[in-house]
Amino acid sequence: MKVAIFGGTGKTGQHVVQQALELGHEVVMLARTPSNFTIQHPKLTILKGDILDAACVEATIQGVDAVISVLGPSNNKPEFVISKGTDHILNAMKQHNVRRIIISAGAGVRDPQDKPKFIDHFFGLLLNLLSKNAVEDMKQVVAKVRSSDRDWSVIRVPMLTDQPAQGTLKIGYVGDITTRLSRADMAAFMLKQLVDDTYLSQAPAISN
Ligand SMILES: NC(=O)c1ccc[n+]([C@@H]2O[C@H](COP(=O)([O-])OP(=O)(O)OC[C@H]3O[C@@H](n4cnc5c(N)ncnc54)[C@H](OP(=O)(O)O)[C@@H]3O)[C@@H](O)[C@H]2O)c1
Repeated sequence: MKVAIFGGTGKTGQHVVQQALELGHEVVMLARTPSNFTIQHPKLTILKGDILDAACVEATIQGVDAVISVLGPSNNKPEFVISKGTDHILNAMKQHNVRRIIISAGAGVRDPQDKPKFIDHFFGLLLNLLSKNAVEDMKQVVAKVRSSDRDWSVIRVPMLTDQPAQGTLKIGYVGDITTRLSRADMAAFMLKQLVDDTYLSQAPAISN
């Protein structure tokens, strides 16, 4: 499969790119600073650009079979960069008839099936206090993807760690999961969705 990856330079994104290549996928990724990216592979194409640039986003998406985004806000300014970039991603997908999109978001972006416990409310309030605009940006991203006419899955995650993959996951909704997830396990789960429709039009929360 040929996959466009957004956020591939990030801490999770590097796992997504590496694992995608190991699975035999062809990868096209957009990077603001390609020179900082160390993975090289014959099946990896890196385009230089910003998700705010619609032409760069379109060039990344043209000709792919699916899109994975592990984009996350770089700061807490009220700029809503990821949400604006998501508009470009969804527009380009429509233009080039790419149906499948798998994105990540924090578990603080709620789903109607969530059953938050006291600890979830506490972390939610804390996050809103500390990173109000970043949280709002990702809420808008999820709302846009959910209301799109694409074949979407939103993978919601708790605090991420750089622990090695454990290979086992809790999958459910907020209230069912724990407070930690290794980025390697998250990447593997997101890539699995390329060939699995179980979570089509759904936003499960996952953890270790
Ligand atoms: N970290 C956590 O504990 C946590 C918790 C809950 C949810 N999440 C979610 O999990 C996902 C991955 O998290 P992470 O910690 O691995 O993220 P990260 O390391 O912060 O990576 C974010 C990625 O987004 C890219 N990006 C941001 N603005 C961009 C722009 N304007 N144009 C192009 N690329 C842009 C960054 O590119 P550059 O390399 O150029 O900066 C980077 O590749 C995100 O969706 C995040 O919201 C994370």
